Amino acid sequence: MSNNISLTRYLVEQQRIDGHIPSQLRLLLEVVARACKGISQAVNKGALGGVLGTAGSENVQGEVQKKLDIIANEVLIEANEWGGHLAAMASEEMDSIYSIPNRYPQGEYLLLFDPLDGSSNIDVNVSIGTIFSVLKKPEGQESVEEKDFLQAGNKQVAAGYCVYGPQTTLVLTVGDGVAMFTLDREQGSFVLTEENVQIPADTKEFAINMSNMRHWDEPVKRYIDECLQGKEGPRGKDFNMRWIASMVADVHRILTRGGVFMYPWDKREPEKAGKLRLMYEANPMSWLIEQAGGAATNGKERILDIQPTKLHERVSVMLGSKNEVERVTAYHAKPN
Ligand code: AHG
Ligand code: MN
Ligand code: MN
Repeated sequence: MSNNISLTRYLVEQQRIDGHIPSQLRLLLEVVARACKGISQAVNKGALGGVLGTAGSENVQGEVQKKLDIIANEVLIEANEWGGHLAAMASEEMDSIYSIPNRYPQGEYLLLFDPLDGSSNIDVNVSIGTIFSVLKKPEGQESVEEKDFLQAGNKQVAAGYCVYGPQTTLVLTVGDGVAMFTLDREQGSFVLTEENVQIPADTKEFAINMSNMRHWDEPVKRYIDECLQGKEGPRGKDFNMRWIASMVADVHRILTRGGVFMYPWDKREPEKAGKLRLMYEANPMSWLIEQAGGAATNGKERILDIQPTKLHERVSVMLGSKNEVERVTAYHAKPN
């Protein structure tokens, strides 16, 4: 693999060769990566840094916040507010958008993030991560409002995540394939370790929270039931199951060796379109998956084509190896 190409060099070369990373976007991605290094530090300290446990508050979606949800959110805001590259930010952990304070210059971009994905895994020392998505501010306007964030995922100009696992790995797309960078702690920099990531179109591995089976819709039940029948069933092969309960870690596995990940709509709270958030989780992950040759739908349509109607919108998610996502999507079109 490419020898010691830092994230900085990668971005400079992308800017030079293809010209599709303007300098403000390059700065933005560098700053997000630096923030992720800071979060990685905090995660690594764990109990020694006093970062475990709950914060005793709830976010706008009624979820109990962990100390690290709040720390990671603050790290991302503090890192990104002064550089002049952003007009505003939005986060899973904040009720409304965060406009760049007047004392700093305003930039062209909007940054959205799930500061800490996989919160239930923090205290048990299992992989967690940060997910981010970058949009452009609509042209010709001074201030930014919530409605300016309501752009379909196909408008993203950059997306990625950082997974804090046995290694800290930053995964990025700017629309020209997917690249992975591993944090070299001695050097203090992210080093390119994988380029042109491709997901195999077929797989024998699925990820879904099976405890919700009785609440699923028929097409999802049918798809999983056929996987469970293995060699003797209609699929003619045995499947394996993985569920980490951190979307970053499940998606990272899929980008590494293929597979399909699903968090479908279910009957527990029928008025909610799903559990995962469109703007902070589904859109950036769907773009990465598509850029690696995979597919992502909500069972009915391509996730990247969904027009959001609110910032904290939820969505049903099926993503990963192309043929499997197409199969479960086809089951939704023709339930029988
Ligand atoms: P978050 O920690 O940002 O709220 O996200 C958790 C998400 C996602 O990462 C994961 O796939 C899923 O919730 C796990 O949900 P269950 O606990 O219902 O399996
Ligand atoms: Mn999350
Ligand atoms: Mn989160």
